Amino acid sequence: MNNTSLDSAKILEAILNANSKNELDDIEQSLFGRKSGSVTLAMKDLQKLDEDARKETAKKLNADKQKFLSELEKKHIEIKTAKKEQMSGTENIDISLSLPSEETGHLHPISQFITNVEEVFGRMGFDVAVGPEIENEELNFDLLNFPKEHAARDSQDVFFIKSNAPEDNKLLLRAHTSPVQIRYMREHKPPFRAIFPGKVYRKDADATHSPMFHQFEGLMIGEDVSLANMKAVMITAIKELISKDAEFRFRTAHFPFVEPGLEVDMRWQGDDDSSREGKWMEVVGCGMVHPNVLENCNIDSKKYQGFAFGFGIERMIMIRDQIPDLRAFFVNDLRFLRQF
Ligand code: DAH
Repeated sequence: MNNTSLDSAKILEAILNANSKNELDDIEQSLFGRKSGSVTLAMKDLQKLDEDARKETAKKLNADKQKFLSELEKKHIEIKTAKKEQMSGTENIDISLSLPSEETGHLHPISQFITNVEEVFGRMGFDVAVGPEIENEELNFDLLNFPKEHAARDSQDVFFIKSNAPEDNKLLLRAHTSPVQIRYMREHKPPFRAIFPGKVYRKDADATHSPMFHQFEGLMIGEDVSLANMKAVMITAIKELISKDAEFRFRTAHFPFVEPGLEVDMRWQGDDDSSREGKWMEVVGCGMVHPNVLENCNIDSKKYQGFAFGFGIERMIMIRDQIPDLRAFFVNDLRFLRQF
């Protein structure tokens, strides 16, 4: 057998089964390569045949060659088309697909709560004011009727600031929002009612205490503001801010700037949760403003009286939503924040 005989059926089958352009190129090379392509060699070998056989074989060879070429071209087109289809399949946009909804941010739960506090007290006619976070001892303690030796002034509890301020009136990070009462009373003539939200600082850190937390202070002064008015305002506010179903208990307590001073406890039947059911929880300190404090602000304590109160904001949200650890407010874990 010489090179002029090709197994054309096998070659056509190889072309038909090719899956890629590279495979086709290899087949093409094996057939028509200049040095060793089988068709090329067969053409060369034609000379070796005698006249009659050459004519016969050349005819067959040419027919095979045309067949190979046309099948190769067909297959090239087929592979190209398949690739295009595949690409358009993956790169087209499917406008019928439903996408996850776009996530939008929202205010931090503490900011949300403060906004709510301002609305609730706004409806009861309370103004909103703020004071500085750096105060001095006079505003944070003295003018609020704290005796010089009061334990709350201890540097174990309060962040004092190194400064040139006099030794007996050092600068500090305010330990409560109560000094804003003093600022407000000095700048306004009674009657008035206002709340003062903001950050406060104490050397305390555990699951229910943070070195920085938020409070809002409230103050209402007039000619005939009574303890009964205070109770009504406290109950209305707590019901709106925490739970409509709350019950209340007022206990006497001591704060230097009020007399009498009270603490309010609340409890309510939690929906299906038994942990807070029946448990009294302290929510606010309050009382009738001490006459010394009014006089310190040049308000005539014979003519005017009123009440003050101080809420812990994180504490209120923790009670409302049963959050066991106050630190959750400050680590900015989105799984926590997204729930508000
Ligand atoms: N300043 C108090 C505190 O930080 C809270 C407080 C209690 C404020 C009684 C008041 C009040 O105005 O009357 O613990």
